[in-house]
Amino acid sequence: MRKLNIAMIGTGFMGKAHSLCYSAMPSFFWPPPAIPVRKIVVDVNDALASGARDRLGFEEYATNWQDVVTRSDIDVVDICTPNNSHAEIAIAAAKAGKHILCEKPLAMDATEAKAMLDAVEAAGVTHMVAFNYRQTPAVIMAKQLIESGRIGEILTVRGQYMQDWSADPGTPLSWRFQKKLAGSGALGDVGTHVIDMVRYLVGEFESVNAIVRTHIPERPLQTGAFDKMASASRDSSGPKGPVDVDDAFITMIRFENGAAGFIEATRNAYGHHNGLGFEINGTRGSIIFDYQRMNELKVMLADDPQDLQGFRTLHMGPAHPYGEHLWPIPGLGVGYIDVKIIECFNFFKAIAEGRPGEPSFRDGYQISRIADAIVASGVSQKWERISDF
Ligand SMILES: NC(=O)c1ccc[n+]([C@@H]2O[C@H](COP(=O)([O-])OP(=O)(O)OC[C@H]3O[C@@H](n4cnc5c(N)ncnc54)[C@H](O)[C@@H]3O)[C@@H](O)[C@H]2O)c1
Repeated sequence: MRKLNIAMIGTGFMGKAHSLCYSAMPSFFWPPPAIPVRKIVVDVNDALASGARDRLGFEEYATNWQDVVTRSDIDVVDICTPNNSHAEIAIAAAKAGKHILCEKPLAMDATEAKAMLDAVEAAGVTHMVAFNYRQTPAVIMAKQLIESGRIGEILTVRGQYMQDWSADPGTPLSWRFQKKLAGSGALGDVGTHVIDMVRYLVGEFESVNAIVRTHIPERPLQTGAFDKMASASRDSSGPKGPVDVDDAFITMIRFENGAAGFIEATRNAYGHHNGLGFEINGTRGSIIFDYQRMNELKVMLADDPQDLQGFRTLHMGPAHPYGEHLWPIPGLGVGYIDVKIIECFNFFKAIAEGRPGEPSFRDGYQISRIADAIVASGVSQKWERISDF
């Protein structure tokens, strides 16, 4: 069985998730396309990197990614760092001929994303962006219903990603609130996930018309290396720094296929802990998905007898996408890490088949163009065409 050595850069929230997948993926998908070997993990100092080696099950650790991505015994570079370092690491890894899994958003903006796409295509390596939510079985089921024509032609769509972990102004000023480290705020952090999901289901965006707002202009300075998000202690009394990214956006969308819709995203909507979802209405039915009930898909089909028409709830299980690999009866439920395991399987499958992953850096670049158009529309207060970015 082929084994592939992984160098993982960054050991916070995503480092933890990806490491779990490397050990678990072959248990779900046997025989796996390749066995991931947790070879070396990198973080910014000895304490973080050596601690991560022990905690996340890697053989070695290092504190300098530049020395690691060129090593001849490394096959895969996994980028789990804040957004400002994705491009530099990915371009170096591509030049060294490594396959790359990069956390989302792909880059700080579309210009950086294009340079990354050019580098991986020139190198001929496998590349994938970790927009994991599109790998959720219920979302893939929605895609299958749309592609088989069960809800007809898509007319309208509403997508949202609403969280509340930063609604309190005492939530610390992590890298997620600094333009030089994150590129954008709610837009890049959560907005790009719902943009990816809606684009995957409905089709290419033609133009956007957005309102982009920052509601909390400064936050208490953070201590420690990685972002503790909702688990951070909140204290507004200490020294503060400026927030120079968006807290929220709402955008109307024109799709190339004639559909119309809107998306909104924020991390400041009290009561919505991880409210990622969509509603899609077609000429023959509708579909609703809410990540906080991620094992369910609500479907209404106009073909049903009139006296039975209404939303039915499908509970994901062995009959649904990836069900035969996960758990043997419906209702046991898949969770966040199961979806990341599906993503991991798809990445290694793409490597084994010598092609880009799905979503690829080309998808990541397109989403960066949409995000840049949303930012521009927030300033111009006009419709912005994606093709101009
Ligand atoms: N797919 C998802 O659902 C999802 C969820 C959260 C975050 N993310 C993305 O994952 C990436 C990481 O986010 P996170 O939440 O894990 O952040 P985090 O703050 O929890 O962890 C980031 C880690 O990277 C390390 N790091 C920073 N610069 C580094 C460098 N130059 N070399 C080595 N290590 C470095 C930090 O010390 C820290 O340990 C971001 O791009 C984020 O947008 C994706």
